[in-house]
Amino acid sequence: MDGSRRDFIKGLSAGGAGALAAGCVSVPADGCANGATGYALGAKGSVRITVPGLRNALRVFVVGDTHLTLRDQRDVAYDGCTARMARYPARDGAFAQTLARAKEENADLVALVGDIVSYPTLANVEYVMKELEASGLDWIYTAGNHDWHFEGLPGSDVEQRAEWTKRRLLPLYRGGNPLMSSKVVKGVRFVAIDNSCYHISREQLDFWEAESGKGDPTVLLMHVPLWVEGFGLFTCGNPQWGAATDPYWEIERRMRWAERQSPESFALRESVLSSPNLVAVFTGHIHTAMTATERGKFLLSVPANKTGECWSVRIGCPA
Ligand SMILES: [Fe+2]
Repeated sequence: MDGSRRDFIKGLSAGGAGALAAGCVSVPADGCANGATGYALGAKGSVRITVPGLRNALRVFVVGDTHLTLRDQRDVAYDGCTARMARYPARDGAFAQTLARAKEENADLVALVGDIVSYPTLANVEYVMKELEASGLDWIYTAGNHDWHFEGLPGSDVEQRAEWTKRRLLPLYRGGNPLMSSKVVKGVRFVAIDNSCYHISREQLDFWEAESGKGDPTVLLMHVPLWVEGFGLFTCGNPQWGAATDPYWEIERRMRWAERQSPESFALRESVLSSPNLVAVFTGHIHTAMTATERGKFLLSVPANKTGECWSVRIGCPA
């Protein structure tokens, strides 16, 4: 999704989802030994997640939907594929300023949850890599639907993702598997699953189950949120999603959505929401800040970083 069509919902809270609030709102969770046992929303864009067994607290900056629109003569052949999204650029310096703030707050990890760029131009990817490397911050990256999309090119979403990941996005993964990867930071396992086509594969579901089955406190990172009441149509595991409800395929000049999402997408939702050691699910895509608890699990969709917004998350034992 792009900002041009999302701005109208900015500021709306999700029905059934936890409203953002200044001050401190604690929500009990059904945590166990390695899962989260509570969440406290702080000032705008901050949350503390309690995981009793953690030895050291860590801080994660969750950043998504910067929608950088850099392009130069090297990609002039794709001008027709970038013109529409180029009309909705990120605020000047938004990404660099976000990383600077993460540095100031001693972030242990920057979780990049997709749509950092609006299309995979060389200029976009080189800029993101330059800023990340210059920051000295650790990061993990999973793609959004725009990261690999040149509008109007032929091929399915899966085919375009494969092609443009290979041709342009690979450096962002630093040798990791673009479709599924994990890393442990201060005792918390971060699992990145690419669901930027909305549905996931059997291999990705198996990966999630193997990683979460290791028992560490586990954070799931994806671009598209898991479907919960109030998060809307543009979610993973949503029975309303499908070709008949796809509103933007002509505007975005892509193939229409499939009839419905893969069985593994629905199975992932069930697996995540029943995982005893889940800390949280962090996503982007819907461009407005939404939080929800479902079966005691904390789900956060971060606002679009194109305006400089992001979330600062502390994960630790009770303060
Ligand atoms: Fe986006």
